[in-house]
Amino acid sequence: MNRAFVTLSSVALAATFCLTGQAVASDVEAGKAIYDVNCASCHGMTGKGDGPISAALTPKPRDFSTGEFKLDANKSGAPGQDEDLALVIKKGAMNYGGSPLMAPWPTLSDEQVNQLIVYIHSLKAQ
Ligand code: HEC
Repeated sequence: MNRAFVTLSSVALAATFCLTGQAVASDVEAGKAIYDVNCASCHGMTGKGDGPISAALTPKPRDFSTGEFKLDANKSGAPGQDEDLALVIKKGAMNYGGSPLMAPWPTLSDEQVNQLIVYIHSLKAQ
């Protein structure tokens, strides 16, 4: 892939998120439903990274209450953008220098991933 194509795809992806990424209540609810089933075992019911499986894990699952993220999946220089989170969720943290314990979720649709991201942001402590 040449650089222009990569840049264009990132812009298209970012634009998609701007159009669909508004945090409406229904997204939070839908995200919570997916999260509780698939993510809470590690990340914890309230997102503090303290789910039942977390004790056995190194590194620990990310604590979403801090609102801080580590991986810069789209190599923009800023970790934790919505596009970074979407890539990590879809393709796994290991793809971007993180732990294989954060496995890829290829079966989730873009809409579901977006709902999860809206929910994850809502877990940040006020
Ligand atoms: C088996 C345990 C496990 C499950 C299940 C799990 N995660 Fe994770 N997750 C982790 C670990 C461990 C990390 C930390 C990875 C690292 O530091 O390299 C992480 C990190 C993350 C990050 C932070 C990436 C960053 O840049 O800081 C996000 C976002 C995330 N997970 C979302 C999810 C979502 C959404 C789900 C459910 C669809 C999920 N995780 C399910 C273990 C898990």
